[in-house]
Amino acid sequence: MPEPRGRRVLLGVTGGVAAYKSALLARLLSEAGMDVTAVLTDSATRFVGPETFSALTGHSAYVSLWDRPGEILHVRLAHETDVAVVAPCTANTIAKLAQGLADDLLASTLLEYDGPLVLAPAMHPGMWGAVATQTNVATLSSRGVRFVGPVDGPLAHGDIGPGRMSEPAEIADAVFAAVRPRDLDGTRVLVTAGPTHEPIDPVRYIGNRSSGKMGVAIAREAAARGAEVTLVLGPATIAPPPAVEVIRVQTADEMRSAVIDRFTAADAVVMAAAVADFRPKAPNDRKMKKDAGVPDLMLEPTPDILGELGERRRSGQVLVGFAAETDDVEEAGRAKLRSKHLDALVANRVGREGTGFGSERNDATILVAGGRDVPMRIWSKAELASAVCDLIVRFLTGPGVAGRLGRS
Ligand code: CTP
Repeated sequence: MPEPRGRRVLLGVTGGVAAYKSALLARLLSEAGMDVTAVLTDSATRFVGPETFSALTGHSAYVSLWDRPGEILHVRLAHETDVAVVAPCTANTIAKLAQGLADDLLASTLLEYDGPLVLAPAMHPGMWGAVATQTNVATLSSRGVRFVGPVDGPLAHGDIGPGRMSEPAEIADAVFAAVRPRDLDGTRVLVTAGPTHEPIDPVRYIGNRSSGKMGVAIAREAAARGAEVTLVLGPATIAPPPAVEVIRVQTADEMRSAVIDRFTAADAVVMAAAVADFRPKAPNDRKMKKDAGVPDLMLEPTPDILGELGERRRSGQVLVGFAAETDDVEEAGRAKLRSKHLDALVANRVGREGTGFGSERNDATILVAGGRDVPMRIWSKAELASAVCDLIVRFLTGPGVAGRLGRS
């Protein structure tokens, strides 16, 4: 199942100031369609109550092994969990998990449980750096436990250093990644995102409304599914995902060079960037002054990067484009799919409230060369990213190129 939807998460919460942030994590996981059950340690309840979690998740939250007389709670919880996460995770809980202690409900459940486990440590830098903790972390890592953070930042008592819990969104991503198939393992995926800025003079440019969210979602999804990802990112404010190589560019020309340099090594390229189609023919190298009157801006076309990739592609490489259209979305998209020699094209309907540029959603169809199209509908960017990666896997493992990746 490519999506986290429907997966059962055990959310362990241990005693730390960051416990309040776990409520947000519970919400993010629930919003992604996951079934979340929280288990708190006694110390966690000093910071946040089980009722908070039951209200957010719609499931009972537990603290004690004896919360449900008549059933063996830790065994049931362990068997009904697809992925477990502990956030915040104290040094004490890390030590217990490394040693196999089972002296409370959370530790007992996790000892019985045998699936993917994500830990988000939070503690003082001294405790995190202690040889005992680092030895325990190494032991757990060697068993396949995934750690998210801790990160540098201000801590309780005014201290600063590595020990702060990662942000809930990043922990949620690690949980999603833990239940995703690693079906892009061993592949190289090149993604472009964001707008380009074409200078008019040192302070002005021609640009567009792209936020970069769509391309970043694809880079994140491909990396979570095992691909080695390079993200060529135009001037957008969005933070790129961790674990991908990021190349920052400003103009269409810079984007072209970055993409062409890496094209041969890529198994798949997704051009999600909104590349400017035109640029000033002769940008001024000094700021243009008002007194000089309204300038006549002569424009010229930028290089069509995707068009060039379509000409140069070698057999077996997968090429996915995006198109933003206001009219005749499918027809215009199909024409681009053909003229740029693409395997697939995501045709977005833009110009309506709530979808497209800058928003969290896309109204889009996926046109597939020689295959069945995915009909127009409203998608979250994460869902659309997942569908694009599904297609890449299909093309890479499909007849004709399966041998190259050693797949059947
Ligand atoms: N693209 C590109 N280089 C450009 C313009 C677009 O690589 N100079 C890519 C985009 O990243 C996208 C696809 O081509 O994946 C389609 O972009 P779009 O702007 O919709 O199409 P154009 O070919 O520019 O046609 P038009 O703007 O006339 O609709």
